[in-house]
Amino acid sequence: MTYILAIDQGTTSTRAILFDGDMQVAAVAQEEFTQHYPNAGWVEHDPEDLWSTTVATCRKVMADKGISASDIAGIGITNQRETTVVWDKATGRAIHNAIVWQDRRTAEICEGLRDEGHEDMVRETTGLLLDPYFSGTKVKWILDTVEGARARAEAGDLLFGTIDSFLIWRLTNGQSHVTDATNAARTLMYDIKSGSWSTEICAMLEVPQAMLPDVLDSAADFGTTSPDHFGGAIPILGVAGDQQAATVGQTCFKPGMMKSTYGTGCFALLNTGDTPVLSKNRMLTTIAYQLDGKPTYALEGSIFIAGAAVQWLRDGLGIIGKASESGVLADKADPTQDVILVPAFTGLGAPYWEPDCRGGMFGLTRNSGPAEFARAALQSVAYQTRDLWEAMRADWEGEANVTLRVDGGMSASDWAMQSLSDTLGAAVDRPVMQETTALGAAWLAGMKAGVYPDQEGFAATWALDREFKPKLDAARREEAYARWKRAVQAVIGV
Ligand code: G3P
Repeated sequence: MTYILAIDQGTTSTRAILFDGDMQVAAVAQEEFTQHYPNAGWVEHDPEDLWSTTVATCRKVMADKGISASDIAGIGITNQRETTVVWDKATGRAIHNAIVWQDRRTAEICEGLRDEGHEDMVRETTGLLLDPYFSGTKVKWILDTVEGARARAEAGDLLFGTIDSFLIWRLTNGQSHVTDATNAARTLMYDIKSGSWSTEICAMLEVPQAMLPDVLDSAADFGTTSPDHFGGAIPILGVAGDQQAATVGQTCFKPGMMKSTYGTGCFALLNTGDTPVLSKNRMLTTIAYQLDGKPTYALEGSIFIAGAAVQWLRDGLGIIGKASESGVLADKADPTQDVILVPAFTGLGAPYWEPDCRGGMFGLTRNSGPAEFARAALQSVAYQTRDLWEAMRADWEGEANVTLRVDGGMSASDWAMQSLSDTLGAAVDRPVMQETTALGAAWLAGMKAGVYPDQEGFAATWALDREFKPKLDAARREEAYARWKRAVQAVIGV
């Protein structure tokens, strides 16, 4: 039996998922690691933790199945995006902790660059906004802050990478300094149309281009693991940022197809084919995947609080014992009450991008209780998804599929998915395969290795678990959504 090993290096844990020759999950291992919050709004990871959990989980799945490196035809890596590491080329050791995508320390740098009038150029080149979310200003911060770093980077002694790139460097014992186009597209330094690093932006950020990795297709030869790690050499053949890997795993290969992943937050991507659509509605333009030198573009919208709203019900309010109880409780809510939660706990993401506003609860009566709160929390995820859906469909002139493919923890909730369908007025499709992100990375590697089907064959394997169809009549749907929009305006105004 031939296997493909997927590494999913995420924000809170690292996972290794072994897929068999039929693209079915054969073994899974997961390890959490420490989050570091050295200052308000700062989030860091120790790169050694990311490395050690990667090696440990990979070894664990191999041991669980009793297989050796020669049984694995290829490795696919998917990763938390934007998170930034700068390391010493000679020792492989990072010169600073990894600065995580959630970290806001470069807000002032971004503001300064905006004031200098760089935003339009950055948007047109990278498809992104001048926001601390992306890697570029994080690298600048490290080079500005760590003593001697810029000079060492200019001398070619330091390297930059997103997590995929750092892991590949380590796995290949310093043989490959590479990334894929989807990860490059999140750095704020990559020209997504020309497919090259932007000299103008690197100069603006004072980042020496010599420290940037080579950018490859998402299915490519990224290097071979050194035998010391897994007892034999394994080729690394697939790489994609986690949201892009989920888009691939959901086989959203046609323009107009859209997926939405519900983790702590929610990330929605709409395939726009070979056209990079510049959003008029504050969505991001990104690369969904790149195969055979050809990028496929996407519009992306991200919301910060999705599953986190359910965590708040559980850990903050203590009204449910576990996440799966939220739907049962929401179902008991009084249908005559219109309680709305705007979960702007850490500000609002797309399409509002209001980092400073905070959440609000509206429509409370003396009878409002746990059930109404649970319903409001689940519905807030549906309303926020509709915000993204509306914005993307306004930007995208091509024919949009009227179906949304969902994945991630919260997609397991029938109640939440029905509410989503009711709020969108569109069908919501949940696949049988729960591991869409890992599968996306595994397919890229397996296809490159010649053990998995081609794009069309892979798309044909996508299987529906359940389709949720709208049950709410259109007038009530629009009335409720208008109420949500007014509530959002209220929290922004406070
Ligand atoms: O853009 C950030 C995203 O890639 C992080 O995803 O699943 O690690 O929270 P996750």
